[in-house]
Amino acid sequence: MLDLSVSLAGVTLKNPVVVASGTFGFGREYSQFYDLGELGGVCAKGLTLHPRTGNPAPRIAETPMGILNSVGLENPGVDAFISQELPFLRQFDTKIIANISGNTPEEYGVMCEKLSAAGVDMIEVNISCPNVKAGGLAYGTRPELAAEVTEMAKKHAGSVPVMVKLSPNVTDITEIAKAVEGAGADALSLINTIRGMRIDVNTRRPILKMNTGGLSGPAVLPVAVRMVWEVSQVVDLPILGMGGVSKGEDGAQLMLAGASAVAVGTALFADPFAPLKVRDELADIAGRQGLSAVRELTGGVRPW
Ligand code: FUM
Repeated sequence: MLDLSVSLAGVTLKNPVVVASGTFGFGREYSQFYDLGELGGVCAKGLTLHPRTGNPAPRIAETPMGILNSVGLENPGVDAFISQELPFLRQFDTKIIANISGNTPEEYGVMCEKLSAAGVDMIEVNISCPNVKAGGLAYGTRPELAAEVTEMAKKHAGSVPVMVKLSPNVTDITEIAKAVEGAGADALSLINTIRGMRIDVNTRRPILKMNTGGLSGPAVLPVAVRMVWEVSQVVDLPILGMGGVSKGEDGAQLMLAGASAVAVGTALFADPFAPLKVRDELADIAGRQGLSAVRELTGGVRPW
């Protein structure tokens, strides 16, 4: 009998597959398809201290192997999440991960305090959103600012583990990873989207109203695998790997590269059942390789 459970910063997930923030809302729509308790965890839509309407449309554009988005952190705000969405998610036997973005380190602190008091299982600190002017990438591309936000989050999160979501839009992701580890992070998640752009050649206008957006989907998987592998070699933190996962083999690659668990995101838009498919295919791969626990895949790559 294969053991599917994994541990992420002391939080036990019943299986290694969670859904990525921003691709699953707060779970209401997907709960019409299956019991959310089938998932290892749910990363809720990114929250800010105050409600946001997000960026003007068009804010989604298809690409040959994925999508570009510039949603701009549309969300109802942390208080509405706690009062209206968290009670809904709590009905399911799955771990709840709140994702937060702030304009200032202080805003991250306030949100951590509220979410810790509300009893989420983990807080994902987003320092990598490419679609907002304040916060986001400004924090995720500079080690000292990434560390400052991490310290603030840890100070206010109480006993709730803090996982920091890293950007691929940097020269050396290991520098940011090390800074965040030094500041006390409990886990890392990577990668967020890669900045990209599409242009309508007839109008000569960018397709997205904000001109650029973040690329996700199968195109980014090899970048995610490479970055998880690089980061896992320089930090001693558990990693939630993500970026283009749509099948078990994709998840297995991220785990072999060093991830303890994986998140499914963009694949959900084409197939709401993708996370369950990834879970079952991961189990098949681990079973075929004679493992007794799926976590034995973590870090198992054999580099040349
Ligand atoms: O624009 C957005 O809401 C995206 C957020 C993110 O990539 O972190």
